[in-house]
Amino acid sequence: MELSIVLRSGILRIGAAALLLTPVFGFGVASAHETLGLEAPKPEVAMTPPMGWNSWNKFGCNIDEAKIRGVADAMASSGMKDAGYQYIVIDDCWQKDRAADGTIQADPERFPSGIKALADYVHSKGLKFGLYSDIGAKTCGGRPGSRGYEFQDARTWASWGVDYVKVDWCYTGSSEANSSYTIMAKALRASGRDIVFSICEWGDNKPEEWAAPLGHLWRTTGDIRDSWDKDEGYSHSFLWILDHNANLWANSGPNHWNDPDMLEVGNGGMTDVEYRSHFSLWAMLAAPLIAGNDLSNMDKATVDILTNKDVIAIDQDKLGQQARRVAQNGDAEVWVRPLAGGDRAVVLFNRSAEAKTISVDWDDLQWAPGLKASVKDLWSKSVKKGVKGGYGAEVAPHGVVMVRISPTI
Ligand code: GLA
Repeated sequence: MELSIVLRSGILRIGAAALLLTPVFGFGVASAHETLGLEAPKPEVAMTPPMGWNSWNKFGCNIDEAKIRGVADAMASSGMKDAGYQYIVIDDCWQKDRAADGTIQADPERFPSGIKALADYVHSKGLKFGLYSDIGAKTCGGRPGSRGYEFQDARTWASWGVDYVKVDWCYTGSSEANSSYTIMAKALRASGRDIVFSICEWGDNKPEEWAAPLGHLWRTTGDIRDSWDKDEGYSHSFLWILDHNANLWANSGPNHWNDPDMLEVGNGGMTDVEYRSHFSLWAMLAAPLIAGNDLSNMDKATVDILTNKDVIAIDQDKLGQQARRVAQNGDAEVWVRPLAGGDRAVVLFNRSAEAKTISVDWDDLQWAPGLKASVKDLWSKSVKKGVKGGYGAEVAPHGVVMVRISPTI
């Protein structure tokens, strides 16, 4: 109780409180005191990885209500909604300041109708609505953060009809991550609305080890960049993020997902072949599929990638088990994801600049060599029946062959 009064004041918050508690409870684990309020169950709103769109990768701070409405229209009319995408999430820079009573205010020039009206519009399209905030004093873009206002913000968002909240990790000083996000988890659960809680802590403090009881997804790395293999400081290429997430398979599952960051498909920095690899492997990772391109201006290749229902079905598989990389032979890799009902999803992945033949053995699938299966190629849609022992295919440079393998009697 005492602690939450201190926290709500916004003056001395959890960083100091955690230090105080350190001798008794130690670092890295929320104390018994700090978890009070989490008895309310985490809403089951992400039993499969969330699917939607977020403004950041394409538009950065250059957002306004007309643009967001246009993207919502496009999601409904482009086939994205039919393919399962639901959330329209506004990232950083929608906020301006706080009213005298502390209520967070949208930028009146960019969002003159207010956030509630925008949420209503998105809902009228049969979609869900999301916002961004930060667990520190400011957002990464320098707007007001939620520090000290967690409960008030959660109530405000709930009153606007927010269904999804991404909470970043800028301007957090010496705060301890687990304790800070625990406050927001409590606030969201007390808000009266079921809200997906996307923890955006960038992997610095290993959120895969503590975020599952708090949120529905957690970022595992710094920001994705629209690049096959070029890393720069804190922003990471597709390959870098893929390799980092390969090791985290045991941490993810229904209602608690590793988040390798949003999709770059359609943003122009990679080829269509590379984007197919990015999308296929994100589906293998059971990643939230959050498109990051301009949905109101997509070419056919982009739509075809983002709406491939066979690949999306792998991402959304009910077993919720993240794929493992079972073989790595130079630039040739085999990824396997077990599916509900006993099928396997397999990606044969060629990281090199030359075509390669790559194969998977039934042994890698934990099947006897004599087992007969049908193999569906999820991009070409061809089906091979009565396959035994293994399956191989020629894979384009930087490409994948992605198949669903079903045992047959
Ligand atoms: C951080 C996050 C990004 C984005 C920006 C907004 O870098 O990791 O995903 O939200 O902040 O400023």
